[in-house]
Amino acid sequence: MLIDTHCHLGAEAFAADVAGVLDRAWAAGVAHVVVIGESPEAAARALLLVDTYPRLSATAGLHPHEASRWATDSERWLSELLRDPRVVAAGEMGLDYHYDHSPRQVQREVFDRQLGLATAAGKPVVIHAREADDDVAAVLSNHAAATVVLHSFSSGPTLLRTALERGHYLSFSGMVTFKNWGRDDLLRAIPADRLLVETDAPYLAPVPHRGKRNEPAFVRQTAEQLARVRGVPAEQLIQETGANARRVFGARVSA
Ligand code: NI
Repeated sequence: MLIDTHCHLGAEAFAADVAGVLDRAWAAGVAHVVVIGESPEAAARALLLVDTYPRLSATAGLHPHEASRWATDSERWLSELLRDPRVVAAGEMGLDYHYDHSPRQVQREVFDRQLGLATAAGKPVVIHAREADDDVAAVLSNHAAATVVLHSFSSGPTLLRTALERGHYLSFSGMVTFKNWGRDDLLRAIPADRLLVETDAPYLAPVPHRGKRNEPAFVRQTAEQLARVRGVPAEQLIQETGANARRVFGARVSA
């Protein structure tokens, strides 16, 4: 079961040809796509796609870039969506100290609130961490019961160690195919039952599509690269990551 666990299918980049994009995904053997709703608008678009096309699920949450938008009614908005069976996870949420689009203190508070809501709703969380490893680990430590996916993982050894100790999942994108990736040791260090694959489309297209628009069909290149590095058959890796995705996101995430 090849599953793209993180795709921004509601992005403007897909507005003109989403049906064709999904046809290519199914043709490439993709069984399911998790459509990320990283803002109220993106979550609404994700749910519209879920209702229009088969084999899609949605997430809902507020990206750290937009943390400043968190308002008094946000709590109700998110808790209602997290009760919706079409919404399989909360996020993406987290901390981004590279762009600092929202003040860091606000990012931490909004991240913490969302983690609380997700745990209360019994839904996993999809985490964006950029140049904020220590604070991501610190905020997560207040939510030991959360099922955590660190998405497009490229963080340092400290967050990796913490994540593995706490039983978090690590999801890898097309970055693992880039010439300058340089972290194959990390890919080999992760137990098979903690691994996920994603595209993060329309961003981070894997080689040989690097620099172009990414799409769910290309998750296969990432899975094949992970399998090569780990020295296992691609079909085995696809089966393992598919089973992990189902364990994290629930039975809805299947063919
Ligand atoms: Ni993303």
